[in-house]
Amino acid sequence: MHDCREFLLSRRSVRKFSQEPVPEELVEKALDIARFAPSAHNRQPWKFYVVSDKAKLAELAKIHRWSKPIEGAQLAIVVFSDSSVSPESHVVDGSIAATYLWLALHCVGLATVWVYTLNAVQEIRRILGAPDNLYPIAIFPVGFPAEKPPQRPRKSLDELVVRV
Ligand SMILES: Cc1cc2nc3c(=O)[nH]c(=O)nc-3n(C[C@H](O)[C@H](O)[C@H](O)COP(=O)(O)O)c2cc1C
Repeated sequence: MHDCREFLLSRRSVRKFSQEPVPEELVEKALDIARFAPSAHNRQPWKFYVVSDKAKLAELAKIHRWSKPIEGAQLAIVVFSDSSVSPESHVVDGSIAATYLWLALHCVGLATVWVYTLNAVQEIRRILGAPDNLYPIAIFPVGFPAEKPPQRPRKSLDELVVRV
């Protein structure tokens, strides 16, 4: 229990990456954890696009003002949900898969940050040549950390818990 708490609370959003290459096996390991995410009816309506092409990374880094960390990353993984597989719940399912991948990257010792996608849906599809049934949930630039951010503040339980 304590290990689990330590694991979850030690994750940070990292936006600066070292130039050290990322071993393919680590990325594979993280993806192989993420695929175990739960989903409605176990439909698993998601795709993981692994982007290592520098030109595409540079384009993704420009989709909005908070996407810059992608530029300095060794690679990025874009999580898409598939509306043709699960028309009603693909966004929820895809978000769970994205969260699994986020934590799985932390688990294998890689750094990342969740980059927002919902204001650039068509642009992301265009850059990656993804079809319209795929909806971009999150972009994760991946690398080894070149910064050690402090924990960001969180609301207290008193503000968050309602007992009825
Ligand atoms: C849905 C979502 C979208 C986010 N979008 C961005 C983003 O576009 N760029 C960015 O630098 N960080 C982004 N973040 C990271 C948050 O800013 C970060 O998780 C939050 O400040 C808490 O910091 P921590 O992850 O280090 O605990 C996003 C996080 C989530 C969950």
